[in-house]
Amino acid sequence: MRKLILSGLVSVPLWMVLNVGIALENSTQVKPAQANPAQAKPVQSSPVSKKAFVPPPESEIPEGKFGDTIRLGRDIFLHTRANAPEYVGNDLNCSNCHLDAGRRANSGPLWAAYVRYPMYRPKNDKVNTFAERLQGCFMYSMNGKAPPADSEVIKALTAYSYWLATGAPTGVNMPGFGYPKQGFEPKQAPSYERGEAIYAEKCALCHGENGEGVHVKKGEFAFPALWGANSFNWGAGMHELNNAAAFIKHNMPLGLGGTLTDQEAWDVAMFMDSHERPQDPRYNGNIQETRKKYHDTKWSLYGIEVNGKVLGQGVK
Ligand code: HEC
Ligand code: HEC
Repeated sequence: MRKLILSGLVSVPLWMVLNVGIALENSTQVKPAQANPAQAKPVQSSPVSKKAFVPPPESEIPEGKFGDTIRLGRDIFLHTRANAPEYVGNDLNCSNCHLDAGRRANSGPLWAAYVRYPMYRPKNDKVNTFAERLQGCFMYSMNGKAPPADSEVIKALTAYSYWLATGAPTGVNMPGFGYPKQGFEPKQAPSYERGEAIYAEKCALCHGENGEGVHVKKGEFAFPALWGANSFNWGAGMHELNNAAAFIKHNMPLGLGGTLTDQEAWDVAMFMDSHERPQDPRYNGNIQETRKKYHDTKWSLYGIEVNGKVLGQGVK
């Protein structure tokens, strides 16, 4: 797989080739020595991730039925369409946004997520179970459909998350949870123009000039789409500037997380999230009403005019 990608991108500078190699190795197979994200990638460590929890290594997944369910959950997380086709509407994998198979601190790690639920979420104004949180990522991030709470897919993802959280304290926000957004605010208003320049220099090589990503084969990305018909939809957390900027700051460019300044992360998030993507499934036929109901925050560009176009039209 690595060869294919590299031969497809002939003009990639050496530092990038090296980083892709390292990053793909980390995200496709997790060895015990890589279980601690801080050790695995010194370049990505932040004050938060240094103290991060260490989930058990793959080699400790138990034998038998429970272990099989955990392994199925891991496989769904890594190859989502292939293993849960009826619930997925794009070619993204869960692990594209939750790196190292859901193990990496500061990219929404599953071990930290599992112990935060049940939790109140303003998004749907109720206390959410973990299953409901997983369903949300299918509807929005995967632009698909919610698997029933008692489905094999939800059972397996829950088992995998539960197992990754082995030994973790419950009911707390562990260091490294989510994408670190606390106190993360732009100093200057995020700029589309500055973001465009950063994108061209530091992102387009992998994600494509039009954010369309690069496929290894049909249905499977080597580099996932950031916008357009094959990306997350307007209801997804990543469409909000604060989530996108925090994710990018800590995790992108791949293998070089932490190298952009905060302002650069905000600017490139602004550029990325100023493009069309599939419609929010809660759309009621009127962009402004849908904005008022679901996107009435300064972090959402849904219904906002950028470069003479009102965003939130949706693309198929
Ligand atoms: C396009 C990126 C993207 C994809 C793909 C994605 N997610 Fe997420 N996910 C997010 C964002 C953004 C959040 C919110 C992070 C935050 O609030 O800091 C999130 C949050 C979560 C949470 C809750 C984390 C917490 O600490 O509360 C879970 C669990 C989760 N995702 C599971 C999944 C699963 C399972 C899949 C695949 C079916 C998936 N995600 C696919 C972006 C994504
Ligand atoms: C060396 C190649 C490379 C570069 C350069 C790179 N990315 Fe990525 N990016 C990836 C890969 C690969 C993934 C998926 C990670 C995984 O599955 O482990 C990813 C995931 C993402 C995601 C989450 C998935 C999605 O489709 O929404 C976002 C957002 C993102 N990158 C934004 C950026 C931005 C912004 C830049 C420039 C600052 C950038 N990336 C630079 C390779 C790269």
